[in-house]
Amino acid sequence: MDFRMEDVFAYCGGKPSDAGVTEEKWNSVMSSFTADSVAFLADGAWRNAREQTGNPQSLDDALGRVAAAVLNDAKLAAMFWFAYSYHVFPKGVIKDRIKGLPIPTTLGDDKGVFYLLVALCFVPHIWENHRAHGIPEDITLNTLKKFNEHPLWYKATYGDDGLTSGHLCWLAHYMHSPLVRLDRLEFWPQPSCLPYNAWRRKSDGAMVVFPNDGLEFTEGGTQFNEFDPQDCRTWKAVYAEDESTVRGTPFSPAGVAVNRIVELKKDEWENTYRKGDNVAAMHIPFGGGLTPERAFKSFSAVQPFFSKHYPELPFRMIQCVSWIMGKQLEHILPPEANLLNMQHNLYMMPHASNLYGGLSFLFPKLDETNPDFDSAPQDNSLRRGIIKFLKDGGRWRIGAMFFDTNDIQDYGKQPYLTRWHNAGF
Ligand SMILES: CC(C)(COP(=O)(O)OP(=O)(O)OC[C@H]1O[C@@H](n2cnc3c(N)ncnc32)[C@H](O)[C@@H]1OP(=O)(O)O)[C@@H](O)C(=O)NCCC(=O)NCCS
Repeated sequence: MDFRMEDVFAYCGGKPSDAGVTEEKWNSVMSSFTADSVAFLADGAWRNAREQTGNPQSLDDALGRVAAAVLNDAKLAAMFWFAYSYHVFPKGVIKDRIKGLPIPTTLGDDKGVFYLLVALCFVPHIWENHRAHGIPEDITLNTLKKFNEHPLWYKATYGDDGLTSGHLCWLAHYMHSPLVRLDRLEFWPQPSCLPYNAWRRKSDGAMVVFPNDGLEFTEGGTQFNEFDPQDCRTWKAVYAEDESTVRGTPFSPAGVAVNRIVELKKDEWENTYRKGDNVAAMHIPFGGGLTPERAFKSFSAVQPFFSKHYPELPFRMIQCVSWIMGKQLEHILPPEANLLNMQHNLYMMPHASNLYGGLSFLFPKLDETNPDFDSAPQDNSLRRGIIKFLKDGGRWRIGAMFFDTNDIQDYGKQPYLTRWHNAGF
């Protein structure tokens, strides 16, 4: 079936340019569009997906109305097929992320549910992907909880049921990538672009991470933040290797860059990370309750799970870049907080950060580029603590971490801080 891209977008209340959709992209996806393309919606398989993802049954009426509308309206079907097929059929990671597809206004109050219906149609493909890797059913069901999380965010942000088209791309990764939830946390083995170098002493497991040569830091040891008008660069990291030694300005495992040269003898140390190495990238789903026990359970599951189901993707380090690794949490949370317990068991590192990155995870309506702290909700201790910190002039930064999966037996004993201290660094 032949539909002009502009006509379909206009019908749905948007423009292709707003979503970065070119004629070429449109045609390459829509060449497979036929009168029967969306017929699978009639079998109601999305209902199983709704249930498996933990979305409430109360959504079924709206989802049913939207499915019927798509089946009966060729232009809506064209937009549905574009959003579905663009994400389902490529194999491999979708790098060219589409954000800003129009939310079809012709659907009235049901419009937000349009992309949720598309996302639910990803679910059978996730089962297929997981079965091909022999992943147990309980892990797939746990992973599918992500499909409930974005609609909760949508409701908190817009007040309605639904999903943004921007979230579709993230949800599409679960069809094509080894991105799974193991107990409380999610992990995805992939090459890392962190420009750091990690070394581990063979005798006692002490770890030292160095930033690459030339990275810029502030006096306080945070990474220079070009978006922060108050930040000034004060010193540059040094890092060099020759045949027998490694010389550089390290990060302390407390997450601070140290302007002092440390030298290691290569025959006593093994290299455990360089830029480009595979790591298990960690993601932290919504829901609180990230207790030390659950963090340990998740970390413990990582190496056994991936070496069994994805042996072709070996890695050593778990890595995360997030607001959750921001060192300012030390000034915001009480000492017994779950997130501080987790930070103290990881090798923390500074990271380049924009001014308010990640805050919209906690304050869905907050504009990260121009936040209004006075109108942000302060209905719980975390939100109150963050707003107070920011209003008092505190600086918000995202941070990064490494955890060597060989250290799992010492999770809970602050392995990196302890060994750093014992090694006299
Ligand atoms: C990160 C997170 C899992 C931490 O959980 P935790 O520290 O174990 O949280 P707790 O269950 O101990 O709750 C601590 C407080 O934070 C609040 N809180 C937890 N999750 C919250 C969230 N998503 N938004 C706002 N407040 C939240 C709780 O209500 C609680 O407040 P209270 O002390 O007044 O009762 C949690 O903040 C969360 O779900 N964040 C959203 C996901 C996220 O940001 N991911 C990272 C993306 S880079």
